[in-house]
Amino acid sequence: MESSQLWKQLSQELFHNVGDDFLRNFREPGKANNRLAAWDPFDGTMRFFKFLLFNQCKAKPDAFFEHYRRLGDTQIGNPVTIRVVRQGMPVDVNLDHFFSIEEFSFLAENIDLAEIGHVIEIGAGFGRTAHALLKLCSTVETYTIIDLPNVLKLSSLYLEAVLDEQEFAKLKFVDAMGIADSKALNCGAADLVINIDSFQEMKPEVIDFYMNNIASHARFFYSKNAIGKYRPETIGLPSSLEAETNEIFQLGRSREIIDIFCNSELEVARTRHMDAYRPSAFFRVIGEAPLDVFPYYHNTLYARNYGQAA
Ligand SMILES: C[S@@+](CC[C@H](N)C(=O)[O-])C[C@H]1O[C@@H](n2cnc3c(N)ncnc32)[C@H](O)[C@@H]1O
Repeated sequence: MESSQLWKQLSQELFHNVGDDFLRNFREPGKANNRLAAWDPFDGTMRFFKFLLFNQCKAKPDAFFEHYRRLGDTQIGNPVTIRVVRQGMPVDVNLDHFFSIEEFSFLAENIDLAEIGHVIEIGAGFGRTAHALLKLCSTVETYTIIDLPNVLKLSSLYLEAVLDEQEFAKLKFVDAMGIADSKALNCGAADLVINIDSFQEMKPEVIDFYMNNIASHARFFYSKNAIGKYRPETIGLPSSLEAETNEIFQLGRSREIIDIFCNSELEVARTRHMDAYRPSAFFRVIGEAPLDVFPYYHNTLYARNYGQAA
């Protein structure tokens, strides 16, 4: 029997010194097992990313993709996609807009979106959530984005490209650097304030400012943020990113270091997190769910009790 050229070479290069030493660590990342069983965790390809997205899509109902299609153009910026065919119709799905539809679905499950006229989003990135809510909730009258000036430039360009004129006219872009005090805000009370993946990257005093001056005046506050910090080495980053010196560990309100791959630690951290992100004592949680893709992120929807402390 003759082996393939491939295995001739692998046997010579990777398995020429099999013995007790080899047995001790051959399944560590980067070692010979990546040619035998599970692919290497440090895979430098898009394989794991695309399978993750593919499997997440598999679990979604048809309605999810009907909403996704209603977004229109989701290809600006050239994202990585996987193709889903439902009810005979193909849709190319990228992770950013996949999350946008999840966010829309979470909100729609917990509040009557027809009652939401004024939205403020703090830290909108390129504008994917605004894109989804303006396309899918026609009753939204105004949508204010507060962000850093360079990122606002991107979201305004992006949103102008994906929205029609009427939808785009509902948007207001506010430079976060220009709002040193609450008087400068001038965006009125919102029905819904949104913060996704960004309070966790802001200093606690900045979050306090946004909570005290914006979120606590809204009827609803939707947060989707990380419930804790993790040690870089748990995901294969160099452990030299030490908690004491790295700014990331000082940001956000959920700063405890947790094992994000331990379900019971996640459960404890979630309870703490939901309390930490309550805009004021007058808010209560009316909906919550961990993210399926990254369960150390938590969707939390808070509602104001109008004068009644929770
Ligand atoms: C990781 S991105 C998340 C973007 C978006 N929410 C998403 O999930 O696609 C963090 C966002 O927070 C914004 N940001 C950072 N510091 C801010 C501040 N002090 N005020 C407002 N936005 C800020 C960034 O510019 C960026 O848009």
